[in-house]
Amino acid sequence: MDNTTEKKKIMLSGIKPTGDLTLGSYLGAIKNWAERAEQFDCYYFMADLHALTTRNDPALLRRRTLEQLAQYVACGLDPQKNTLFIQSHVPAHAELGWILNCYTMFGELSRMTQFKDKSAKNADNINGGLFTYPSLMAADILLYQPDFVPVGDDQKQHVELTRDIANRFNNLYGETFRMPEPFIPKVGARVMDLLNPHSKMSKSDEVGNGRVCLMDAPEDIMRKFKRAVTDSDSERCVRYAPEEKPGVANLMSIYAAVTGKSFAEIEAEFEGQGYGVFKPTVGEAVVETLRPIREEATRIMKDKAYLENLCREGAERASYIANKTLRKVYKKVGLVAR
Ligand code: TYM
Repeated sequence: MDNTTEKKKIMLSGIKPTGDLTLGSYLGAIKNWAERAEQFDCYYFMADLHALTTRNDPALLRRRTLEQLAQYVACGLDPQKNTLFIQSHVPAHAELGWILNCYTMFGELSRMTQFKDKSAKNADNINGGLFTYPSLMAADILLYQPDFVPVGDDQKQHVELTRDIANRFNNLYGETFRMPEPFIPKVGARVMDLLNPHSKMSKSDEVGNGRVCLMDAPEDIMRKFKRAVTDSDSERCVRYAPEEKPGVANLMSIYAAVTGKSFAEIEAEFEGQGYGVFKPTVGEAVVETLRPIREEATRIMKDKAYLENLCREGAERASYIANKTLRKVYKKVGLVAR
């Protein structure tokens, strides 16, 4: 792939290796990325520097970072067509992150929903990194001058702040950063926990029956779907009504995302049938979607030489682009050239 002559629009996104990838990570993010490799010039990374904002077991973080890379490839991200890399292997992220911290306001950072949520959950570790997380995320994005940033609903606020930071910088120093657009999938943008449909399915929460991981065994997936919370309404029919029936709406969204069916088609398919038929059918569709991913990721994880090579090549390609932007920024803000 030759990044210098490509005229394709650019896409970039990342995932923190803070937990095993879930069905939410797949439907909200990776699946949409994999479908766009031909159309866009794509950069996807493991956001390991962001993972440090919460406490991790170091060996586990290292393993998860590599597993995530294997899972990206297993989900259909061809490393020849997409630049896949580990964030910490491209030092320009941390370098631009510092600079952008100086162009991000305390008030802006204080308003971030994720900061408020995470501080409430980790009251004993509200560190500076957690607070300035969005400036590093802005650096991740702006280094690659992307047109689109495909993310789930929960990250939209961070991409909007990135735009504000880019705008502020461009106004001060002249056109430096391209203005990125968040790119939110129509279905799967917010996959909810199967036991608590008011809370998103999170890879960082405690292991539970409410979240489905990409590497889960088929019998575990089936058990989780059979136990999924539906709704206590008396009609007990499959109808898309997110306010009244959030559990059913979540299962319908998952089913729609994995089968490509519309909500109207799903309602027709289960007409006259109770949740007892609906839930295992959704479970089976998910099992069949995840089966080839699990098998391929397991195979890749055993091939250490292949993984090392992927990391090296990805970091080289990413650094080439990232360093170009960083040099431009250094010059604009008045740092002496190296
Ligand atoms: P993270 O690691 O929390 O999540 C990765 C991506 O998956 C999406 N996602 C979901 N989508 C639908 N339903 C869910 N239940 C669900 N859970 C997660 C997220 O919206 C996200 O798109 N800050 C980012 C990582 C990051 C990043 C970036 C992303 C760092 N730098 C630059 C884009 C560009 C994060 O914590 O995502």
